[in-house]
Amino acid sequence: MFESLQALPEDPILGLMAAFRADTASRKIDLGVGVYKDEHGKTPVLAAVRAAEQAVLADQQTKTYVGPAGNEQFNALMTELILGNKHTALTSRRVRAVQAPGGCGALRLGAELLIATGSRPTVHVSDPTWANHVPLLSNAGLKLEPYPYFDARTGTVRFDAMLERLNALPAGDVVLLHGCCHNPTGADLSLDQWRKVADVVLARRLIPYVDIAYQGLGEGIEADAEGARLIAATVPEALVAVSCSKNFGLYRERVGLLMVLTETETQATASASHLRKIARGIYSMPPDHGAAIVARILSDAKLNADWRNELDAMRNRMLKLRHTFAAALSKTCNAEVGNAIDKQRGMFSMLPLKPEAVDTLREQNHIYMTRDGRINIAGISLESIDYLAEAVGSVFGR
Ligand code: LMR
Repeated sequence: MFESLQALPEDPILGLMAAFRADTASRKIDLGVGVYKDEHGKTPVLAAVRAAEQAVLADQQTKTYVGPAGNEQFNALMTELILGNKHTALTSRRVRAVQAPGGCGALRLGAELLIATGSRPTVHVSDPTWANHVPLLSNAGLKLEPYPYFDARTGTVRFDAMLERLNALPAGDVVLLHGCCHNPTGADLSLDQWRKVADVVLARRLIPYVDIAYQGLGEGIEADAEGARLIAATVPEALVAVSCSKNFGLYRERVGLLMVLTETETQATASASHLRKIARGIYSMPPDHGAAIVARILSDAKLNADWRNELDAMRNRMLKLRHTFAAALSKTCNAEVGNAIDKQRGMFSMLPLKPEAVDTLREQNHIYMTRDGRINIAGISLESIDYLAEAVGSVFGR
């Protein structure tokens, strides 16, 4: 049976983790996979998470099954975190949410829900988009098409070209939008641009599918959700996939949420029943532990405040690294590169480097990033900035 299978190349993002760990060089820098790192290069367990985890363990009375929709308290609290608690989509009871195994699980659930409708829409994704969007959505049977998004020269969004494309799409097609902290470019839509996107999506009867995996790590918890909130207030139907990996630092616990917004309450109830059936048919039900931690944090005033402070600290540290690195790149590359990095937000930016230049950085300097030039800003340390900027400058333009 299995003799027909040939070994595959490693995943373009996760493969870097293993390659970096195996590198024995004394000086090596990991700008690969998107995980937050502190000034010691460690990805800490947040103090609020540790406290909530202990409380969850102390209070837990049973390990019996929860159910395919997961923890309903988590679902309700996360829905409020994304939409705000007075959102019209909530008061009109047109939103349902199910817990998912990470943001990836959520994205896949949403894809399977689209398939379940029988309409097999094309999903339009930004060019470029997060590498794993492609298998997550297309393995469910959806066709993907890129829409113009990133201008690599200026490091900004090609908004006119994006809008022109959206304006030409057929009704019922799906548009995947990054809620904030665009992965891999760090180039986000302004609120005014979100408004224009929402208007086009409404006018053309497209289905927005918002992926929000970095809430709190761009401009702040509320500001980072503005785009998703605006979309949900404007359109009759939408999907929102949420990850708690980065903002709660719960990567390996696999905590996420899939929200569906429908035109009527009846449709919302029906959609939720399909989501439960889909979950049951893939993994039965999501893991409990991480979602229980998040529910504990969001329902406890002190833990909530502590978590928000820790999240602010992570964001501010990345902003400082971003600004300092951008200034250094202005000298070793040019001002345009520096300005672009400076304006972008979140965990990522994309350096204008050819794949061969990225290979050279890895082979000669033991600096790891994906071959498209994406860097994890949190992987930089203040001490390494000059070294990094020199190394990037040495291959820039080659
Ligand atoms: C990333 O983009 O590096 C992260 O979202 C981790 C992943 O699963 O790819």
